[in-house]
Amino acid sequence: MATSGKTPYQILGEEGIRRLVDAFYDLMDTLPEARDIRRMHAEDLGPMRQKLTEYLIGWMGGPPVYWQKYGTVCLTEPHAPFAIGPEERDQWLLCMHRALEQIGASEELVEMLREPLFRIADAVRNRECSSRFKGDPNVIASG
Ligand code: HEM
Repeated sequence: MATSGKTPYQILGEEGIRRLVDAFYDLMDTLPEARDIRRMHAEDLGPMRQKLTEYLIGWMGGPPVYWQKYGTVCLTEPHAPFAIGPEERDQWLLCMHRALEQIGASEELVEMLREPLFRIADAVRNRECSSRFKGDPNVIASG
């Protein structure tokens, strides 16, 4: 499908965005690389599937359904309780890029979204470092 001049919403449609979000949360639910961010979410991902779909419809150039429902599109507050550093951001982006692949998004669409997706995911990041503990509990300094 020709994509030039179209918004991502016009390319994917509401149904495509819904499929993208479903693939995204299915991946978050199963990819070992996304374990940290999966743990932050409620066990039932159903409500998030609905919310992210509504959010992305507006963000991708469609009707502002999330804004109409919740009165804001600010992502700072809902993410404030979670420690989101570069690793968590990258886990989110990994799921999103794999999801785009799974729904068969064109290379052109992937390229169109690459930079804006990075920017919005990086804007959600609320710390410089990831808080996940990775080291040996007995080692307090290394290097
Ligand atoms: C950067 C990494 C991100 C992480 C780790 C993350 C994590 C989370 C978590 C844990 C929640 C709460 C889920 C729950 O209640 O079960 C949430 C909510 C939400 N996230 Fe993210 N998120 C990230 C990025 C994004 C981005 C880039 C977007 C939009 C493009 C987004 C959109 C939302 C929305 C719309 C909600 C629901 C807010 C509400 O309660 O209305 N998130 N996110």
